[in-house]
Amino acid sequence: MPLQNFQYKGSQLHCEGVPLRAIASTAGTPVYVYSSRAIRDNYRAYRNSLAGVPHEIHYSVKANSSLAVLALLASEGAGFDIVSGGELYKVLRAGGAPAKVVYSGVGKTRDEIKYALEERIATFHCESLQELDVLKHLAREMGLAPTVGLRVNPNIDAKTHPYIATGLSEHKFGIALHEAESIYRDAKEWAPLQFTSLSCHIGSQVFDTHVFGEALRQMLGLATRLGDAGVAIRTIDLGGGLGVGYEADQPSVSIRSYGRMLSEVLRGTGCCLGLEPGRSIIGQAGTLLTQVLYRKLAPKKTFVVVDGAMNDLIRPALYRAHHEIVPVSRSDGPRTECDVVGPVCESGDFFATGRSLPPCAAGDLLAVATAGAYGFVQSSNYNSRPRAAEVLVEGDRFRIVRNRETREDLVRGETL
Ligand code: LLP
Repeated sequence: MPLQNFQYKGSQLHCEGVPLRAIASTAGTPVYVYSSRAIRDNYRAYRNSLAGVPHEIHYSVKANSSLAVLALLASEGAGFDIVSGGELYKVLRAGGAPAKVVYSGVGKTRDEIKYALEERIATFHCESLQELDVLKHLAREMGLAPTVGLRVNPNIDAKTHPYIATGLSEHKFGIALHEAESIYRDAKEWAPLQFTSLSCHIGSQVFDTHVFGEALRQMLGLATRLGDAGVAIRTIDLGGGLGVGYEADQPSVSIRSYGRMLSEVLRGTGCCLGLEPGRSIIGQAGTLLTQVLYRKLAPKKTFVVVDGAMNDLIRPALYRAHHEIVPVSRSDGPRTECDVVGPVCESGDFFATGRSLPPCAAGDLLAVATAGAYGFVQSSNYNSRPRAAEVLVEGDRFRIVRNRETREDLVRGETL
């Protein structure tokens, strides 16, 4: 099962020491459930595998920005990779240190840049000349000298889903290598900005780690040329992107061997390595728990209609992403082929199609696996459905860390 620290004890699926059935009866469904031990273990695997080289790990907040998750990672000493003022606000509310925040994104607004400057974040990863110009003027007005790393587009094919590949010249992200190089060479003209960092991110859900090695070598080559030209690069941030298994027997890429490979490439260069992992920290640490409402026998198919929907987890509809689905109460009965669908009024509202599932009937609980990353964060109120609750498990205990939205929440901020 592509989940960490979720296992059957007897017939019941548990997260760490807690039966998921108990969580569903307290928090209701649909509900996201996360294992704090899995999140911690993954973060520590990064830290330990990079112990031999100077490094900074910035958890990518976009993967899962729940305050409790951010607070857990902050308490481990993690830094944060943000892409909006909203994410910065959440990091600060969770107790994250602004001095460990890096800020990426092609469309930072003036207000967002100002907010990040006021909070004295660590580094701006800039993606265009115009953005640099806004940052320079604001920094001058405020009497600050922020650290900048241009996000370089290395034109590397990450071989992943086209929506989440970002490192090719045709993508909106980053600045072409040759253009970035000439901006760095003119660094003095951009005073007070401090060009001591370099960044790139080639895509997400990447399994071929060689492409990361190639990107790192490219960045190191650029850093050396810049050093020769008098621009000292201290940090190379390689972004996130490590893939995790979603299929039943698909292994994740080992964080440990990835870290070791990068350490080998980096050793002796004197550079500090920045990483921005998201999915590989929390993807397999979370499930979406949903209850079967109806079992509908249609002329051509059997539909298992559940109370979770595409507004709760949009990945299957958006990317045709595969998520394993397992029963919370294990059953050895005969399997049948069915579509697992939600109540939203779209045929694209499915969690699985043509999936062979053990017997399940109205009232049964199902766990949609590998939903910790890009699950809740991409949820919406489509069809005026209140968003799900979230639960964090720690050993034998669990806490509701986000209440289920109410109907009143659906109209908050609206006027007649
Ligand atoms: N850094 C930057 C600049 C990024 O754009 C991303 C992801 C990350 C780090 C984190 O990448 P990760 O380690 O999580 O792969 N919604 C999609 C994923 C979009 C990823 C966007 N950028 C999904 O559900 O698969």
